[in-house]
Amino acid sequence: MNSTPRPSFDAKRMLVFDDIQQASHHVADEIIQLVGAKPSAVLGLATGSTPIAVYEELIRRYRAGDVDFSKITTFNLDEYVGLSPEHPQSFAAFMRTHLFDAIDVPDHHTHIPAGVANDFLSTAELFEKKIQTSGGIDWQLLGIGDNGHIGFNEPGSPGESGTRLVELADETIEANSRFFDSPDDVPRQAITMGIATILKAKRLVLMAFGAAKAQAIADAVAGPVTPDCPASFLQRHPNATFIVDRAAAAALPTEA
Ligand code: GLP
Repeated sequence: MNSTPRPSFDAKRMLVFDDIQQASHHVADEIIQLVGAKPSAVLGLATGSTPIAVYEELIRRYRAGDVDFSKITTFNLDEYVGLSPEHPQSFAAFMRTHLFDAIDVPDHHTHIPAGVANDFLSTAELFEKKIQTSGGIDWQLLGIGDNGHIGFNEPGSPGESGTRLVELADETIEANSRFFDSPDDVPRQAITMGIATILKAKRLVLMAFGAAKAQAIADAVAGPVTPDCPASFLQRHPNATFIVDRAAAAALPTEA
C-alpha cells in the first residue's frame, strides 16, 4: 500500500466545538478577518451541507456592514459532470443560492469548474491556470465525505493529482442521492480540484460535523497519510486546521 508511517496525532490541528453554530462563526470570523486585511483575497469554497452555516454567517455580517466582498476572487472545489450552472442540483446553483446572490462578489470573480464541456482536459487545465494567475488560493474551505474524500477526490486519489475528471464512488452517489429525486439521477462523474491543487492553498480549513464523519476524521487526522483517505494529505500541509463538533471528534485516539 502507498502510505507513509503513522505520524503522531497533532492536536494543534484540531478545534473541537460544542455545536455547529459556534464552529461556523469561528470559521466566518477567520474569513472576514482575512478579507479585512486583504480585500482581494482568493478564497477556495466548498459545497455540501457542512459549510451552509458559514455562508449564512458571512451573509449576516455582510448585511451588517462588517465586510466587503467586492474585490475577492473565489474558486470552488468541484462540479458534477453533466449539470449546467442552471441545473438546480449543480454546485453553481448551490453557490448562488447559499452565498453569491446575497453578497457583492462580482459574478466574473467567481469560478466553478464547468460541468458541461466538450473537452474536460483543457477545461481542467484552464481552471488550474486561472488559480495560478489569480495569485493562488489564500484560504480554502473543505468538507469531508464519510469515506474521507475532499472535493470529489475519492479514495485512491493520488497526492500529486490536479484538477481532473473523476468517477464518483458508490458511497458518494448514495450519500448525495438525498439531494436528487432518485439515486439514478446522481451524476456518476465530476470535475474536481486535485489533492495537489488543494494543498497549494496557503491555508486549509476542513469542517466536519456529526457521527457519520467520525471515522473519516480519525483516519484523516491520526491515521497514515494515504490515498485510501484523501483528507489525510492535509497532514502534509503546514497550515491546515480541522474544525469539528464533538460527534465528529469521537473516534480520535484519546491518548493523543
Ligand atoms: C460532497 C462534496 C464535498 C463535501 C462532501 C460532504 O460530495 N463534493 O466537497 O465536503 O460531499 O458533504 P456534506 O457537507 O453534505 O456532508
